[in-house]
Amino acid sequence: MREALLTHDQARAFYDRFGARQDRQHFYEDAAVEEMLRHLALDEARFVFEFGCGTGRLAETLMREHLPEHARYLGVDVSATMVALARERLAPFADRATVRQTDGAPRLDLADACADRFIATYVLDLLSEEDIRSVLAEAHRVLAPGGRLGLASLTHGTTLASRLVVKGWTLLHRMNPALVGGCRPLALETCVGEGWDVRRRATVVRFGVPSEVLVAVRR
Ligand SMILES: C[S@@+](CC[C@H](N)C(=O)[O-])C[C@H]1O[C@@H](n2cnc3c(N)ncnc32)[C@H](O)[C@@H]1O
Repeated sequence: MREALLTHDQARAFYDRFGARQDRQHFYEDAAVEEMLRHLALDEARFVFEFGCGTGRLAETLMREHLPEHARYLGVDVSATMVALARERLAPFADRATVRQTDGAPRLDLADACADRFIATYVLDLLSEEDIRSVLAEAHRVLAPGGRLGLASLTHGTTLASRLVVKGWTLLHRMNPALVGGCRPLALETCVGEGWDVRRRATVVRFGVPSEVLVAVRR
């Protein structure tokens, strides 16, 4: 049976309503995102692209704490609410940080090999397999050789508690994907194929919620 997923329009409508409440997910997301950041060599980054930037929380952290002072940032999101929140948050860095709204299509309006970091946190887990493949193909296209890909997503449980949490989560997702923001557990490693050298893969469990972190270098 084909898995029910949110369409791009449904995802936009959900995240337009959800807005700043997205940041309440930090209790399980932060540890995984920090693990991802540790392996992205951000002190050497010059142009960071983020797919599905949400409220701009990670972008603000990047600008304040991780990126060199001349590094640029571009984030995209399908939700107008999220784009407005992210722009507001990044206003102090407006000369270097830009946020654009997209129609949800994975195709990116960027030149080949123009970026050196490509980040997507808790976004691929709400996309169709076809969209995931397209986003990762776009990441490969827009990253220069040696550029780094940083991903974090909900994943399958590894402990008794996290298996139970994921079982409940998956049931809710089957009933109605919008009950869990459209996200379902994903195995990132199986999504990243040829053309990448995986440098770090880890499962991080916080409050019973398992996240997979994957950092890979574009060949
Ligand atoms: C679960 S939130 C995660 C937000 C942020 N990356 C974070 O970690 O807090 C998913 C985000 O992806 C955005 N999104 C969903 N589908 C998208 C698509 N096809 N293209 C771009 N953004 C999308 C949503 O609007 C939302 O902001």
